[in-house]
Amino acid sequence: MQRKIITTSDGSHSLYVPELNEHYHSIHGAIQESRHVFIEAGLKQAAKNNSAISVFEVGFGTGLNALLTYLESERLGLKINYTSVEAFPLEEAIFNALNYPQETGEGKQAFELLHSSSWEVKNSISENFSLLKLKTSLLDVILENDQYDLVYFDAFGPLVQPEMWTDEIFSKLYHAMKKGGVLVTYCSKGEVQRAMKRAGFSVEKIPGPPGKREMVRATKE
Ligand SMILES: C[S@@+](CC[C@H](N)C(=O)[O-])C[C@H]1O[C@@H](n2cnc3c(N)ncnc32)[C@H](O)[C@@H]1O
Repeated sequence: MQRKIITTSDGSHSLYVPELNEHYHSIHGAIQESRHVFIEAGLKQAAKNNSAISVFEVGFGTGLNALLTYLESERLGLKINYTSVEAFPLEEAIFNALNYPQETGEGKQAFELLHSSSWEVKNSISENFSLLKLKTSLLDVILENDQYDLVYFDAFGPLVQPEMWTDEIFSKLYHAMKKGGVLVTYCSKGEVQRAMKRAGFSVEKIPGPPGKREMVRATKE
C-alpha cells in the first residue's frame, strides 16, 4: 500500500493512501483530531473510573494515538496497557519522517520506542505504559472476553473499508470490552451507530473535532 506524507492544517503530518483516496487523519489537523476523539472523549472518560486502563486500538498506523495516550497518561498518572492491531505496518522511512514529537514538543524517545518495539510481544515503553502490537487483521485477531476499558476505533472509513464496520466486528469488540468500557470513533454515520447498537452498545453522538460536526462514543453498559 503506497502512502504519502502530507501536512494537515494544524501543522502535524498525516498519510494519504492514493489507492483508497483516503487519509489517515482529518486534513483539518491530525493531532487536533486525535486529541479530540481519542484522548478527550475516550481516555479522559475512561480515566474517570480507573487509573489503570487497558486500551485496544484498531489500526496502529502512525502511532499518533499511542504517543498522545502515552503523553497524557504521564500527565494524569495513569497506568496503560496498550494493545494495537495493524494489518499494514508503516515502512521505517515513513515513521521516521513523521513530525509528531516535534509538534507536541515532547515524547521523541517514546515515539521511537513505540515504533521500534517488536510485534507480538508486550513491550515496556515506560514503567507505566506497556505496548503489545499485533501484526494482523482486525478481522482475524482473536480477542478474549472482558479485557479492555477503552477501544480506539480508528479504521479507514466505512466507504473504503465496509468490512471493518460490521455487526460482527462491533460484537467482537463488545465482548472483548469490560462492563462500563467505552469505544470512541471519529465516524458518526447512522448505519455505523445502528451496527453498534445491534452489537449491544449504548451509543451517544458528541461534538466532533474541527471540520466534523459529530463523533461517536459507545458504552458497554
Ligand atoms: C485511519 S488509519 C489510522 C491509523 C492510526 N490510528 C493513526 O493514528 O495513524 C487506519 C489504520 O488501520 C489499518 N488497517 C487497515 N485495515 C486493517 C485491518 N483489517 N486490520 C487492522 N488494521 C487495519 C491501516 O493500515 C491504518 O494504519
